Amino acid sequence: MNKNNPLPSAENGQKQKTTFSGNIGYILAVAGSAVGLGNIWRFPYLAAKYGGGIFLLVYLILMMTFGYAMIVSETAIGRMTGKSPVGAFSSFGSKKWLKCGGWINAVIPMLILPYYSVIGGWVVKYCWEYLRGQADALAGDEFFGGFISNSLVSEICFVVFVLAAFFVIVAGVKNGIEAVSKIIMPALVVLAIITAIYSVTRPGALAGVKYFLVPNFKDFSIMTVVAAMGQMFYSLSLAMGILITYGSYLKKDSDIEKNTTRVEWFDTGIAILAGLMIIPAVFAFTGGDIKTLKAGPSLMFITLPKVFDSMGFGNLIGSVFFIMVLFAALTSAISLFETCTATISEELRMNRTFSSVIVLAVSLLLGTASVFGYGIWSFVEIFGMQILDFFDFLTNSLMMPISAFFICILVIKVIGFDGIAEEVKRSSKFNRQPMYYVVTKYIAPFFLMIILASSIASTLGLITI
Ligand code: PHE
Repeated sequence: MNKNNPLPSAENGQKQKTTFSGNIGYILAVAGSAVGLGNIWRFPYLAAKYGGGIFLLVYLILMMTFGYAMIVSETAIGRMTGKSPVGAFSSFGSKKWLKCGGWINAVIPMLILPYYSVIGGWVVKYCWEYLRGQADALAGDEFFGGFISNSLVSEICFVVFVLAAFFVIVAGVKNGIEAVSKIIMPALVVLAIITAIYSVTRPGALAGVKYFLVPNFKDFSIMTVVAAMGQMFYSLSLAMGILITYGSYLKKDSDIEKNTTRVEWFDTGIAILAGLMIIPAVFAFTGGDIKTLKAGPSLMFITLPKVFDSMGFGNLIGSVFFIMVLFAALTSAISLFETCTATISEELRMNRTFSSVIVLAVSLLLGTASVFGYGIWSFVEIFGMQILDFFDFLTNSLMMPISAFFICILVIKVIGFDGIAEEVKRSSKFNRQPMYYVVTKYIAPFFLMIILASSIASTLGLITI
């Protein structure tokens, strides 16, 4: 980027780049990034743990205010500069903190991709086993533990998953990401609706639906807000350079406000459907025992297979469910892969294919460490965490709030609210501009520091989240 031109025009930035062919392609790709394991596995478990209906209500309010403001900032920064995070930040000057802000946004996806793909590999394994008719075996207590501690089998599943993402990236933005998202996302919606209907119509499931949808203010605590906020960042893929990168591929005439609204509701819709798939089914299975729902990571891989097995048609419903999860995880992994590839090819001036090979190599290396962390390297502990959990903690609890903070400061101090508004208004109305202003300036920086402090405190065992 031309150093004398700190506010680059889009034409400068976008000239040599591939873009999405149209609005729908862009929306599906961003929605594909947003909808992932976070919606299907993490959201229902957190909702169950932090008060059911009241968690949902808090989440919706945060999503429409905070989430909206962050998506708009990132997309506008991306489209304004035509660059992925490092280039985007440094096109506003050469100050150290701008470099720092860009790089932290760029490094996060490189750290998430490997361990996200390890979990993607677990999903590959479950799809395979359900399709082979192994519902009974999957429902056994030992299956999951036995599988992840078998480093060879887990490694093969992980490699299959990363390679799938890699091939889509090599195919490019339009022919790869957009084409795959256009097929996968509608299929995912159909599968989610079928599974949710099946789940809420089980005998005894209605109590679960009520717990999940009806807010009860007695269940509210400050941790409801902290947990909902962390989940919202993760679920909308915020503060990880992804929306900056995808924004840089966005055409100047695409309506940022409308697209943002569509994406946030799509993401939340899938999370609600996932809640309706999982919470009522587990309620029906356990007779309303909320403790089972709080199982966390094991909920999807240990409890749900038992629930499916007990429902009848276990193999069919298990296959449908895990294929859906696989689609969701794959499109999210693709967005992570793309952001890393774009950063490397822009910053090191390499061609796309070569950059994606570097990302593949780093992912294989770090991901293998995470795989081995549950198997042959299970003696390794970092701050009391296994390798995979450590990467998750490092990125989501420590780096993400810092990176979001940098984005807010970039908007407040350098670009200015008028700069963002001008970019948004090139192609659309900016109805929520006053709200955007208040949230970005006063609420976001404060809340981000609270998330950071609470996650550090909970790791040190000072509070329990
Ligand atoms: N948003 C994705 C989900 O809900 C996860 C994700 C996080 C994807 C970070 C990309 C980057 O699962």
